[in-house]
Amino acid sequence: MIYADYNATTPLSDGATQAIAQALEFWGNPSSSHKYGRKALELINKARESVATLVGVNANNIVFTSGGSEANTLALMGTALEMAPGFRLLTSKVEHSSIKDTLPLIEKMGGVIQYIPVNSSGKISLQDLEIILNTFKPHMMSLMTANNETGVIFPIPQILELCEKYGCLFHTDAVQGLGKLDPSFYRKAHLISISAHKIYGPKGVGALIVKKGVKLVATHYGGAQEIKRRGGTENVIGICGFGGSAKELIQTHSSQNLKEIRDQFENLISHGLDGVTIQGDKEPRIPNTSNIRFKGIASEVLLGALDLEGIYISAGSACSSGSISPSHVLLEMGLSEAEAKECVRFSWGQSSSLNTVEEVAQKVIAHVTRIRARNKLKEVSK
Ligand SMILES: Cc1ncc(COP(=O)(O)O)c(C=O)c1O
Repeated sequence: MIYADYNATTPLSDGATQAIAQALEFWGNPSSSHKYGRKALELINKARESVATLVGVNANNIVFTSGGSEANTLALMGTALEMAPGFRLLTSKVEHSSIKDTLPLIEKMGGVIQYIPVNSSGKISLQDLEIILNTFKPHMMSLMTANNETGVIFPIPQILELCEKYGCLFHTDAVQGLGKLDPSFYRKAHLISISAHKIYGPKGVGALIVKKGVKLVATHYGGAQEIKRRGGTENVIGICGFGGSAKELIQTHSSQNLKEIRDQFENLISHGLDGVTIQGDKEPRIPNTSNIRFKGIASEVLLGALDLEGIYISAGSACSSGSISPSHVLLEMGLSEAEAKECVRFSWGQSSSLNTVEEVAQKVIAHVTRIRARNKLKEVSK
């Protein structure tokens, strides 16, 4: 089988598996003062150090959560609750659904949202951003580091400069940036969301990085865990797995040239087929992602054909795949509903190689050619 859906999730690394195995032995509650509790707390803090080192931030900044979605919700809701009423938030319409679906709650609390549009490449205009900062005067801006569907990167360092200039708090959803981009690209943000299962850690654990001085109202209550920023007994096993995957990534960082692999795949596809467009290919992208439209081919038909071959990819984000609604990201980039439904995402990772992408490209070319010929026949016989 060939797995090419690493933006949806990744398999557990050896480092994560070992850290989880160790955590299973020390099952104490980290809040207990006895030996079992102290050991569990020690393991959590070791993991905290590893995650902080990977990103290059202070360990005290890490607030462990149940994943990237909760980190995003905490960043937005925590700040909105701190600043409400009249909270002004600037964001984009291509954010992950955990941001998108939190926005109505903020509006319900009396917050006001403004959006910066993206162009057909998924890019934002820094000039437009500055105009909005000047006129709308947001308290907070939330823009993702890299888009999960297209891989397009927002210019975080320049965005941060503008935020500093206008005194605006900046949150970035770095879930797809972590492990794929140098952390110096986004680590100066005031609030940063990350998730373990995109970096070969377990699912159901992530973190919000909260920089010193940033005020946030907790959205989970029940104890003083995570310095009162996220109540509830910690997910010791998940957190340790996160720490294990982070530690392994620090050691093995950029040993694999995913960009070369991705570029080779895109070359093969572009040369082997007509009617192919690659979303955001002129923009800076994370090195592992290709979002490709095969004109005239419904994404689920291609997905099904590749699935039978043991090649696993997805149509847009994992959460929207399987649903019939087209991706909100692609619609915002100006694709029609029909065009958006012809897009599929290939996202490469540790098991990918030049050989793998050659095999996948061959199969994709064969299936697209076959499906187009069949569609043509159907048209003729109508
Ligand atoms: C950009 C982005 N943000 C947030 C999330 C949510 O992370 P989690 O699955 O850990 O809740 C994802 C997951 O696909 C993502 O790609």
